[in-house]
Amino acid sequence: MIRLLGVFLIFILNNVKGFSPSLNDDVLGLIVFKADLKDPEGKLVSWNEDDDSPCNWFGVKCNPRSNRASDLVLDGLNLSGKLGRGLLQLHFLEKLSLAKNNISGNLTLRLDQLSNLRTLDLSENSLVGEIPYEFFQQCGSLRSISLAKNKFSGEIPQSIGSCSSLVSLNFTYNQFSGMLPSGIWHFSGLRLLDLSNNLLEGEIPEEMEELHNLRWINLGKNRFTGEIPDGIGSCVLLRSIDLSSNSFSGSLPSTMQTLSLCNNLILSRNAFAFEVADWIGELSSLENLDISGNNISGALPASIGNLRSLKVLNISKNALGGSLPDSMRDCINLMSIDISQNSLTGILPAWLFRLSLQKVVFSENKFSGGLDSAILSATENSRQKCLVLDISQNSLTGGIPSALVYFTSLHVMNLSKNSLVGNIPYSVGELKSLNVLDLGENQLNGSIPTEIGGAVSLQELRLDNNLLSGSIPTSIGNYSLLTSLYLSHNNLSGSIPVAVAKLTNLQHVDLSFNKLMGSLPKQLGNLGHLISFNISHNLLQGELPGSNFFNTISTSSVSGNPSLCGALVNRDCHTVLPKPIVLNPESTEAKPGTMPQSSGHERKIFSISAIIAIGAAAMIFVGVIAVTVLNLSVRSSMSPSAAGVTFSGGEYYSRSPSSDANSGKLVMFSGDPDFSTGAHALLNKDCELGRGGFGAVYHTVLKDGHAVAIKKLTVSSLIKSQDEFERELKNLGKVRHPNLVALEGYYWTPSLQLLIFEFVSGGNLYTHLHEGSGESYISWNERFNTILGTARGLTHLHQMNIIHYNIKSSNILIDSSGSPKISDYGLARLLPTLDRYVLSSKIQSALGYMAPEFTCKTVKITEKCDVYGFGVLVLETVTGKKPVEYMEDDVVVLCDIVRGALEEGRVEECVDVRMQGKFPLEELTPMMKLGLICTSQVPSNRPDMAEVVKILELIRSPEGGQDDLVLV
Ligand SMILES: *[C@@H]1O[C@H](CO)[C@@H](O)[C@H](O)[C@H]1NC(C)=O
Ligand SMILES: *[C@@H]1O[C@H](CO)[C@@H](O)[C@H](O)[C@H]1NC(C)=O
Ligand SMILES: *[C@@H]1O[C@H](CO)[C@@H](O)[C@H](O)[C@H]1NC(C)=O
Ligand SMILES: *[C@@H]1O[C@H](CO)[C@@H](O)[C@H](O)[C@H]1NC(C)=O
Repeated sequence: MIRLLGVFLIFILNNVKGFSPSLNDDVLGLIVFKADLKDPEGKLVSWNEDDDSPCNWFGVKCNPRSNRASDLVLDGLNLSGKLGRGLLQLHFLEKLSLAKNNISGNLTLRLDQLSNLRTLDLSENSLVGEIPYEFFQQCGSLRSISLAKNKFSGEIPQSIGSCSSLVSLNFTYNQFSGMLPSGIWHFSGLRLLDLSNNLLEGEIPEEMEELHNLRWINLGKNRFTGEIPDGIGSCVLLRSIDLSSNSFSGSLPSTMQTLSLCNNLILSRNAFAFEVADWIGELSSLENLDISGNNISGALPASIGNLRSLKVLNISKNALGGSLPDSMRDCINLMSIDISQNSLTGILPAWLFRLSLQKVVFSENKFSGGLDSAILSATENSRQKCLVLDISQNSLTGGIPSALVYFTSLHVMNLSKNSLVGNIPYSVGELKSLNVLDLGENQLNGSIPTEIGGAVSLQELRLDNNLLSGSIPTSIGNYSLLTSLYLSHNNLSGSIPVAVAKLTNLQHVDLSFNKLMGSLPKQLGNLGHLISFNISHNLLQGELPGSNFFNTISTSSVSGNPSLCGALVNRDCHTVLPKPIVLNPESTEAKPGTMPQSSGHERKIFSISAIIAIGAAAMIFVGVIAVTVLNLSVRSSMSPSAAGVTFSGGEYYSRSPSSDANSGKLVMFSGDPDFSTGAHALLNKDCELGRGGFGAVYHTVLKDGHAVAIKKLTVSSLIKSQDEFERELKNLGKVRHPNLVALEGYYWTPSLQLLIFEFVSGGNLYTHLHEGSGESYISWNERFNTILGTARGLTHLHQMNIIHYNIKSSNILIDSSGSPKISDYGLARLLPTLDRYVLSSKIQSALGYMAPEFTCKTVKITEKCDVYGFGVLVLETVTGKKPVEYMEDDVVVLCDIVRGALEEGRVEECVDVRMQGKFPLEELTPMMKLGLICTSQVPSNRPDMAEVVKILELIRSPEGGQDDLVLV
């Protein structure tokens, strides 16, 4: 509506000027101006084209005599759109201010058409492009212009020289480039010149002297060069000079000493090279003197003490030498002093803390002597005011005065890189506001006082490179804001306190080069913001905590700990287990018959007075693992009704160094009484059967001749809690099927978990298929039975809602009668998270068996992944080939070969050569088809295991001719 009207009015304006004499020029112009804008907050709704005059409109002010619009002020209204030509209609406009909007596009106005304009403020919009030359033509009445904070570019047009009445010119934060138009230096009425934050170049000319009304000049952050002209001395009204971040050079003209009204002199980050002259003391109004980041040398003159108004002094990053003049004690208004990165010498002046400084930065100089006298002479006021104290990288000696505790407001205390000795005063803990405490690289000794934990606001604690000993106090757990903890290169001992894991904001931790011992608290895995964590060169042991961060930590962050284990340090966690000492001095043989007989209750929980231990360095040497189970006895007091109750309090005699003092817990599901009668070492010197994704398996025979396989879990961070562990295992214990390896029991301590399985004596399918010698081939019948049995076992698992995730031939065990038994099922549930990454990296490592959905994020992983693995297993069993085989220059995937052969009708060629001629083709072909269907890429195309069993039974049956009905 408004837009249409605007277009119409523009039409009128441009073509039929004077068409409607009744239409007020101002109303017309403003309506057109409004039509070009978006007004999201509806501030301009009061602008109604039916009004006779705009004088009551929002943002418009009229001259009472002429009744014409004189001021248009629409600051900060979120207006966007373009600056339209409607404005040119406002011939009597004196002030146009559209600051802090979002007006975009080019500057299309021309000041000659707004001949009464005195103030133009377009700052903080999104205007772009070059300023046209015509813009400034005939701008004689303009007093103030601000184009600040837009995106103007190009050179400032020379025509600006015609704006001879300018008082204020603010072009800061644009991208103006090139030389300044010389006219600018002739604006004798100019008071404010702000050209900072552009890309301007050139020198300040001597004509500057004509700017004798200049109060504020800011040329900061440009590319200006050359020296400050003598003419500056004529601008005696100057209050503020900012030439920072340019390439000015040379020295300061002595004419500057006339600038006695100047409050602000900012010359930082240039190439000035001079010695500070005595006349600096004449600048008696100076409040802020910043000459940092130049090449200023010599000593500060004593006259600096005359700067009684001085509040901020920054002379850092220069080449100043000598000592601070004592006269500076007279700078009684000084609040901030930064003299860092010079070559200043002497002792810390005693007057320092008599001034009420908030910020004292003396770092990287050559101050020597102790802190005591300066600190002790601090006034009450000064102690309370001081926020930042940085005297790092000097040559201070002596101790850290405990009087520093009275500096109660300190946020930053940095005394690092000096030669300070003695203890860390415990009173540091009183500094409740302290955010940063850096005492690194000194020669501090003694232990870190527990009281230091009182500094509860700490975000950064650095005590590295000292001679500190003792342990890390657990009180650092109070630092809930801590992000950085640096304690490296000391003599700290003891273990890493679990309290560190409470510091949830930690990002950087360096504990390297100490003598820290023990294992890393698992809870560290919960620290979610860690970026670096260096524990190298200590005496730590055990496994790293499990978390994404620790799984990907760099080797250098953990190296130099001879007893740390895990993949990262390339050391198997077995080898660092404690000595295999297990004893039971008071073995009491349980009398047969005292064993509570389970009635309906499937499990029994025994209290044990001895312990199973596995492992150990010496035995590993000879490649044999000793498994010793001592005296698994049932308390004779255990009443029949007490089945299922845990008896605690059994003595625990394991000598593991990190021995968890609580007792282990052994649970046998089957309640086989014989298991509990042994009073002596039951298992001895049995061989390791193998290793899987979850740990090594050992074969052992109990004293009564009952054989079991014991799996020692090694996957780090496997189990979250004993409760969850037991809950999962009790569920697994209920799984009973002739084609599944039975879980008979488990043993649990916080540091050691064993699973006790039925022992299956005939080896696994993988060895039978791929490692057997020529004669020991398996017949078609045996293969068929293995496949069928496996299918039945898997069906049972799926019926119990257990996904195996890791079907492969080495997980199919063959018992003495030749039946297959699936092992390793359900263990994935012991992982803390069952995500795709964990599954595919930790479990589904077996090449060729992994279902495609593991790598496809959008497909849900279901029990159909087992069907896929089963299909591969079928093909493997029939062909005798591994799922993936590496040829000389080729990788051969079994499914692809079989699929190809089947299509070409030469399926017999794929059969294991050892069976040549000894198989029924009418069973082979459907079997191959079944294998291929099970390995369908799309999970839903695979049959479920119950169907697979039916199909197999059909294939086997004499009337197996129906197979094609099922397997099209
Ligand atoms: C301007 O608009 C933005 C969103 O476009 C909004 O967040 C902001 O609050 C507005 N400003 C004012 C002053 O209304
Ligand atoms: C400014 O205007 C542009 C369009 O001209 C728009 O995309 C942008 O969101 C606006 N910004 C604000 C903060 O309103
Ligand atoms: C107008 O602005 C565009 C940037 O959007 C710029 O490229 C063009 O040069 C500008 N026109 C003038 C005349 O400055
Ligand atoms: C120039 O304008 C900007 C933006 O409005 C403002 O922040 C700055 O203080 C002005 N410069 C001076 C010297 O007043």
